Amino acid sequence: MQFSSCMSLVLLILTTHLFIPSLAEQCNPYDKNTLLQIKKELGNPTKLSSWNPTTDCCDNWYGVSCDYNTWLYRVIHLGLDNLDLPQPVQIPPSVTNLPFLLCLSLDNNPNLVGTILPTIANLTNLEYFFLSHTSISGEIPNTLSKNKRLIDLDFSNSKLTGPLPATLPSLPVISGIIFDGNKLTGTIPESYGSFPNSFTVLSLSHNRLSGKIPASLAKLNLLFVELEGNMLEGDASVFFGSKKSTFKILLGNNSFSFDIGKVGLSEDLRALDLSNNKIYGSLPESLIKLKYLHELNVSNNNLCGQIPQGGKMKRFDKSSYANNKCLCGSPLQGCKA
Ligand SMILES: *[C@@H]1O[C@H](CO)[C@@H](O)[C@H](O)[C@H]1NC(C)=O
Ligand SMILES: *[C@@H]1O[C@H](CO)[C@@H](O)[C@H](O)[C@H]1NC(C)=O
Ligand SMILES: *[C@@H]1O[C@H](CO)[C@@H](O)[C@H](O)[C@H]1NC(C)=O
Repeated sequence: MQFSSCMSLVLLILTTHLFIPSLAEQCNPYDKNTLLQIKKELGNPTKLSSWNPTTDCCDNWYGVSCDYNTWLYRVIHLGLDNLDLPQPVQIPPSVTNLPFLLCLSLDNNPNLVGTILPTIANLTNLEYFFLSHTSISGEIPNTLSKNKRLIDLDFSNSKLTGPLPATLPSLPVISGIIFDGNKLTGTIPESYGSFPNSFTVLSLSHNRLSGKIPASLAKLNLLFVELEGNMLEGDASVFFGSKKSTFKILLGNNSFSFDIGKVGLSEDLRALDLSNNKIYGSLPESLIKLKYLHELNVSNNNLCGQIPQGGKMKRFDKSSYANNKCLCGSPLQGCKA
């Protein structure tokens, strides 16, 4: 899954201020100098040809938008997606000189290399930080927990390594971490059970995470749980519960082993993928009550007993259930009397 970039936030601002005539230059001169420095640090990509020193940086510079609400016109959004960077460059160090920045997005820049600089901590207003589909490597710094206003982090499909930063749960309004498609290692920290109530998206699929899920995570009420394609093991029942509002639970291609017959299911559940694990027990009868279920795959586990019949269960074919220990009933063969 992926959050939107800064640009969708920018549109909101532009449309409410489109008809205000601008005669004098609004751009803050300090921010303008910083942006021109950032352009240099990025190797003067053609995509930034609109960043012309003779024009107003708040007026149609690619990816830039200023704060019209306070009349200070400081740069608050920097959406540098799809820059077609001519050569490998790191995250421009000068971004930390834009103190009013709320959103920094550098998505879809395969030539963006290097690490996430600890000086990002200086951006004390930062709420959205997107680095998906880049070549950013190294560890995710624990210092991100100093950016107290962070809401969404999307670092998916990049080249990050090392452990999950244990300090992120101290961010008071964090809503989601999307770190899937990297090479992260180690376990899910015990501290992840203490994310604030605002936290609803845990997306860590296709990494190299291992070990057990801490029991502390049972406290979370997540909308999206995406852990596919890791080396996680043991009990993942902490993510279930009939009182939760979970939409999606994707646990495929791990080594989870627990009794699925004992879990409660969120009424909002739309997608459940447990394929290629060592999960046992029989499928919960409450599956037939799920109004929105449209994706189900429990194949390649150790499940037994009758497949619940009715409701949305009718739409799934054999491939959703194949290769279990003794699962039976439609669409598999009938159960022995
Ligand atoms: C960023 O913070 C460090 C200390 O954490 C400080 O030394 C540095 O001057 C700051 N940089 C900017 C651009 O504010
Ligand atoms: C599991 O791995 C197989 C083989 O690589 C792949 O085809 C399948 O899509 C994966 N399933 C999930 C849920 O990631
Ligand atoms: C379920 O997962 C198995 C194994 O990854 C895959 O072969 C099969 O196509 C999947 N079925 C559905 C309906 O997604």
